[in-house]
Amino acid sequence: MGYNNQPNFWHLVFVSNAFVSNTAFDVPLHQSHSMAPAEIRDHKERIKSLLKERNAVLVAHYYTDDAIQSLAEETGGCVSDSLQMARFGNQHPADVLVVAGVRFMGETAKILNLEKRVLMPTLEATCSLDLGCPASEFSDFCDHHADRTVVVYANTSAAVKARSDWVVTSSNALAVVEHLMDQGDRIVWAPDRYLGSYIEKETGADMVMWDGSCVVHEEFKAQGVRDIKKVYPDAAVLVHPESPQSVIELADVVGSTSQLIDAARELPNSEFIVATDRGIFYKMRQMEPGKTFVEAPTAGEGATCHSCAHCPWMGMNALDNLEATLASSDNEVFVDPAIAVRAIVPLERMVQFSEGG
Ligand code: 13P
Ligand code: SF4
Repeated sequence: MGYNNQPNFWHLVFVSNAFVSNTAFDVPLHQSHSMAPAEIRDHKERIKSLLKERNAVLVAHYYTDDAIQSLAEETGGCVSDSLQMARFGNQHPADVLVVAGVRFMGETAKILNLEKRVLMPTLEATCSLDLGCPASEFSDFCDHHADRTVVVYANTSAAVKARSDWVVTSSNALAVVEHLMDQGDRIVWAPDRYLGSYIEKETGADMVMWDGSCVVHEEFKAQGVRDIKKVYPDAAVLVHPESPQSVIELADVVGSTSQLIDAARELPNSEFIVATDRGIFYKMRQMEPGKTFVEAPTAGEGATCHSCAHCPWMGMNALDNLEATLASSDNEVFVDPAIAVRAIVPLERMVQFSEGG
């Protein structure tokens, strides 16, 4: 996979980290949110009133249910990738941010908006990258590479961010690493090994990597993409960089969720094979109703169907728990102030960098 040679210590980290390997995760079953149209409409109306009453705004990721994404759009909220979700709260006057996504997104919103309340439909929605990178072991890993700049993906806990120099998302990771290379920095990268390998290959940066992965994206299969390409020979292949290198190699465009949506709009192709969570089809089909979007296959050798192109944790967000959260103001996100005060430094660095500052 093109990883750097790791010192013996790395093997110790890897072994000690085995208990949090993806196969050991207690991955929730897919949540089924099938509701009759009238039920959806009633939930939405009640949620709209509650958002107004609480002076709250909904900030949703592209992987959440269509109903949640449309509600965010209808109420002046935000549906976006993780970078824009992080930036949105700052720019909005609401007192309460309701983050429909996974826990690291809620924590990031809280750290960047300490004066605001941040609620989530559920606090149980996590991420395999976050789970696979415990702060204390990561801190030991960084200590072992003390001469390197620590760059962590946004899909991490607040405590891991607090140990970093830079936070990045898939929207800006390449640009940040190029910037650091220009300064002559060598890098500790965590936690996603696929995204890290992609950046290492694109930039030639000197990176040592944590061994994490996304349970959704690592299941896309290169052979499956080649097979489906025979059915849709003119399709452009859009790939999120959390996917394996063999899948990335088949891509016409590699990018964050928002970059893939832009590509679906801008490319002249009328068919697309998409290797990311299927929640993204809501926005792609809304923007390009005349185009055909097909899921990249996850089946084949090694597939576990833990994810099958839908993040089980993103799938825990639903209209009923969103309404209950707003009604009760439960599920508030809190971040230890001692951690927040350190995590805000690399987070603000990322926001300023992405704003050209
Ligand atoms: P984006 O930043 O591209 O939205 O990705 C977030 C994520 O969790 C992808 O799995
Ligand atoms: Fe984490 Fe993967 Fe889910 Fe994104 S899709 S939140 S990286 S588990």
